[in-house]
Amino acid sequence: MADFDTIILGAGPGGYVAAIRAAQLGQKVAVVEGRETLGGTCLNVGCIPSKAMLHATHMLHETHENFEKMGLMGAAPTVDWAKMQAYKDDVVSGNTKGIEFLFKKNKVTWLKGWGSIPAAGQVKVGDDIHTAKNIVIATGSEASTLPGITVDEKVVVTSTGALTLANPPKTMVVIGAGVIGLEMGSVYARLGTQVTVVEYLDAITPGMDAEVAKTFQRILSKQGLKFVLGAAVQSVTKTKTGATVAWKLKKNDKEDSLEADVVLVATGRKPFTTGLGLEALGVEMGPRGTVKTDAHFMTNIKGIYAIGDAIAGPMLAHKAEDEGMAVAEILAGNHGHVNYGVIPGVIYTAPEVANVGQTEEQLKAEGRAYKVGKFPFMGNARAKAIFQAEGFVKLLADKDTDRILGCHIIGPGAGDLIHEICVAMEFGASAQDLALTCHAHPTYSEAVREAALACGDGAIHA
Ligand code: NAI
Repeated sequence: MADFDTIILGAGPGGYVAAIRAAQLGQKVAVVEGRETLGGTCLNVGCIPSKAMLHATHMLHETHENFEKMGLMGAAPTVDWAKMQAYKDDVVSGNTKGIEFLFKKNKVTWLKGWGSIPAAGQVKVGDDIHTAKNIVIATGSEASTLPGITVDEKVVVTSTGALTLANPPKTMVVIGAGVIGLEMGSVYARLGTQVTVVEYLDAITPGMDAEVAKTFQRILSKQGLKFVLGAAVQSVTKTKTGATVAWKLKKNDKEDSLEADVVLVATGRKPFTTGLGLEALGVEMGPRGTVKTDAHFMTNIKGIYAIGDAIAGPMLAHKAEDEGMAVAEILAGNHGHVNYGVIPGVIYTAPEVANVGQTEEQLKAEGRAYKVGKFPFMGNARAKAIFQAEGFVKLLADKDTDRILGCHIIGPGAGDLIHEICVAMEFGASAQDLALTCHAHPTYSEAVREAALACGDGAIHA
């Protein structure tokens, strides 16, 4: 008899959620994790610490920008960097300990160490071999830096190093205007760092609705971030005081460079499967280092499954969590399913940016007949009251059936507002369904309803 029903490699959002659900469904489960704490990249060096830093620096920004406008007078606070770091670390440890508690509560065994798969049904951790009916690879991803660039996590950093800098730098070059670059760029810009973002494409946040991306860039520029777009970074060279980033503009091959105290390389992530022994096992791989799986998350080797950043699809914690729950159901003999058409994306800047479903550009490319309902937060009393009336809600619906196809929001609370649309899409709702739903006044969510009204006879407050 096997030691466990299921052994999961990796305790990030994919792995730990799969473990808890599998245990809830009656399985004997173990999770192999080599980090000192559970929670993977997201809890330890990703989503959670960055959100703490975003919150703290947003508060700082508010005191400087808006407090006097509201009659709140007095000296603005200064930054105690060590304390801010300690606050961030406390947030992280509270969450990682929470997972440890949940493992105990659900009787999930934590096998401490780095695991490999010597054969189907076997997981090696240190010198010990553990057996299991099923193995789930949930080993996540690592930063994908540029060729020839050496990351030291002090001067040339990935998101991991950017969270633990000795001090906020005076100047920073961010390579890549994706989610990490803009979230961490915002953190440091609010702390007074002169941030320059160098991006290969001609727009920030690739794949995002173009109108949102344009508004987003305008707002971030007002917050002090500088952008160099259409620039292919050629090299990063360490100097006495920092590093120099050299790039070539795509439109005219013009070369330029900028020296900064710190360079953040935020050019994407790649699956992390090093040391698992997948090649020796003959596990079939997909494009860009992903583990290839079928519709039930199984690899070409019976009994070996994979989920999360290690497989195809958006590298998002919540996508991994959904796959974790789905694979646990499948392993228990139930039906597990992920609706990939309804996975929201959120950028936790101020204002927040959120999206779900298709973009207008995608609908155009598909030749689909659609309608657009747009509503500016300028018409939303609550947003105006907190000085965040710059963004908008853009709802896309099928021209004939009125079914909601996508939504793109830039504005206050966008990361929470988007879920109203996720639920609506999950239920196959029409824009009119949303427009007929009473929304409390005054809330930001009224802007979502107004966008739905704009898909029909028109918004009220625009
Ligand atoms: P990303 O894929 O979002 O953006 C990378 C950017 O770097 C792209 O705009 C790309 O065009 C640019 N780039 C690539 N090579 C370049 C070069 N040589 N010169 C200039 N620019 C170059 O990747 P990012 O921001 O590193 O994030 C990695 C992953 O982590 C993403 O999948 C992201 O979704 C996820 N993540 C999600 C968060 C969230 O949901 N809030 C937060 C942080 C990360």
